[in-house]
Amino acid sequence: MNKVTKINKAVFPVAGLGTRFLPATKAQPKEMLPIVDKPLIQYAVEEAYAAGIRHMIFVTGRNKRAIEDHFDTAYELESELEASNKDELLRAVRAMHPDDMDCSYVRQPRSLGLGHAVLCAQPLVGNEPFAVLLADDLMCGEDDGPSVLTQMVDVFQEIPTSLLAVQEVPLDHVQRYGIVAGKPAGDRILKVDRMVEKPKPQDAPSRMGVAGRYILTPGVFEHIRNNPRGAGGEIQLTDGIAKLMATEGVHAYQYWGKRYDCGSKQGFLEATVELALKHAEVGPGFQEYLRTLSTRA
Ligand code: G1P
Repeated sequence: MNKVTKINKAVFPVAGLGTRFLPATKAQPKEMLPIVDKPLIQYAVEEAYAAGIRHMIFVTGRNKRAIEDHFDTAYELESELEASNKDELLRAVRAMHPDDMDCSYVRQPRSLGLGHAVLCAQPLVGNEPFAVLLADDLMCGEDDGPSVLTQMVDVFQEIPTSLLAVQEVPLDHVQRYGIVAGKPAGDRILKVDRMVEKPKPQDAPSRMGVAGRYILTPGVFEHIRNNPRGAGGEIQLTDGIAKLMATEGVHAYQYWGKRYDCGSKQGFLEATVELALKHAEVGPGFQEYLRTLSTRA
């Protein structure tokens, strides 16, 4: 494999306060809220690992210790599980920190926006392309198909430019997303020529909304650094990528799969129900339970 197109590092911005889930997030990170039996951040880390990435970089903040503990070895727990022959649970706990996976943590000292969070990871990323995963967006590939980030890594092998995961969104939702427009450049691929953060419906250049998966070239750092604050007074990743387009190609990829917006209560509940239905242990019983609910209604 060409060295330049190998993605080795993933950045997880996890410093946000999670105000939309208060009071649940008063004393715990929103990324630790579970969908069935795994916290949101674990879904994102597993997606990155499945895409061949082995160095996970978390941009954390105060009150985020639980994330570091989650991906660390838990000696007492593991020896208890071992002693009581709870092999399956032991495997599940150990699977979270495979021997070939490295985790690094860097602090985002102030909430200055997603662009700023990504910039905080620059010393750890260095001068190579990297992935960014927003754990709020739980992404599921098609049944039996590759995960969304794996699909993107594959596209990146062919077109080694920054790549954004996109989906078509309703016009009255464009204000929740970075919106891109561009020209077709392959199967489900656009060469992006405009990108705006959270436009009003009347100003949106299209209905193609960015989901929380990016592959970025290191050139983006300089553009983020030199950017004034954008939408909401924050240093926006979208604005940095929009500037990057002046010097490098940027592409958007309409992924196969489904995104759950777990930053919203509605999306969180939808993910909980749908993943519970697919869950090997609780799926059949839960399906039966839902059936009794709907016959009662
Ligand atoms: C962020 C990005 C936005 C993107 C979205 C995807 O917004 O700024 O461009 O479309 O994630 O979830 P946030 O949801 O953090 O406000």
